[in-house]
Amino acid sequence: MERWRRVSVLAMALLLLSACHGAEFSVKNHDQSLIYDHTLAKTIVEYASAVYMTDLTALYTWTCSRCNDLTQDFEMRSLIVDVENCLQAFVGVAHNLNSIIVAIRGTQENSVQNWIKDLIWKQLDLSYPNMPNAKVHSGFFSSYNNTILRLAITSAVHKARKTYGDIGVIVTGHSMGGAMAAFCALDLAIKLGSDNVQLMTFGQPRVGNAVFASYFAKYVPNTIRLVHGHDIVPHLPPYFSFLSKLTYHHFPREVWIDDSDGNTTEQICDASGEDPNCCRCLSILSLSIQDHFTYLGVDMESDDWSTCRIITAQSVERLRKDLASNIIMTKHDADVSIVENSVQTDWSSSR
Ligand SMILES: *[C@@H]1O[C@H](CO)[C@@H](O)[C@H](O)[C@H]1NC(C)=O
Ligand SMILES: *[C@@H]1O[C@H](CO)[C@@H](O)[C@H](O)[C@H]1NC(C)=O
Repeated sequence: MERWRRVSVLAMALLLLSACHGAEFSVKNHDQSLIYDHTLAKTIVEYASAVYMTDLTALYTWTCSRCNDLTQDFEMRSLIVDVENCLQAFVGVAHNLNSIIVAIRGTQENSVQNWIKDLIWKQLDLSYPNMPNAKVHSGFFSSYNNTILRLAITSAVHKARKTYGDIGVIVTGHSMGGAMAAFCALDLAIKLGSDNVQLMTFGQPRVGNAVFASYFAKYVPNTIRLVHGHDIVPHLPPYFSFLSKLTYHHFPREVWIDDSDGNTTEQICDASGEDPNCCRCLSILSLSIQDHFTYLGVDMESDDWSTCRIITAQSVERLRKDLASNIIMTKHDADVSIVENSVQTDWSSSR
């Protein structure tokens, strides 16, 4: 199959590039007795999965096929869609967790394989504002910072905290969505304080260098990055221990779910961000794309990858009709923000 052939070429390239080892550079540990909560992860993964749904009306009304189970009591507050950049996110309140949930979907166009292949060459080409020597990938950063996401998410979080008081925020995303979720969590933590923000990502690529990881660990200490088995994406863009100050470097804390021998174990990794005994212990040749698409037994793919823009545009049309017909506008004070062709539209429903 084409998919596997491409991935093994990538694995070969990685193997060649990582053939030697040197002293490890470790991220400073700002750990504040973080405890990984498996039950919470089972719930949060369902939000990260739901944000992939293309039927916007079903998502908005929280009636989609993935909008149930542990997320049943979710109150949608804001649905955010950027048609042009194929971005999607929502903000709402999980009453059972007494938390605001921010879920961000990745932009992957129609080929995850190509996206993964490109990850190997991503440059650390942007200095993160106000963090000396911290470097990140500009594409990941600007997908959050320079699109509708930043403004729409921060304002929805602000409004929800006005309604419900200063409850905590949990930011989540899978894959590229995890990368954007990381920048969102950092942004919110700087605004709201580290105690109020938690990040949980699934199959997230690396986003910055070691200095960035160190700042990140300080500002968002309540961070968990779940890595499923042999998922290749968290290994990209590459980290080289012998060049550890120059290459990409994960922030902590990884939780590695290893289910390769039929028994599932969840290993809570060290505070370095690059624990050599967690997913990094795998042979590069054994990495796979397959494990990227399920986390904790939950489907992490879009229900329709093939035509991101077209389907989203149709979904937008339908949502617009449904909103116009006033079916769901009575629910609560929820917002819909949609960007098409760089023109922003806001609907604010009222009782
Ligand atoms: C991030 O976004 C803000 C506006 O929301 C902008 O002023 C700033 O320049 C952006 N940062 C970068 C590095 O692009
Ligand atoms: C899986 O766990 C069971 C019970 O703990 C054990 O008996 C079995 O040997 C394990 N299987 C493998 C392949 O490790």
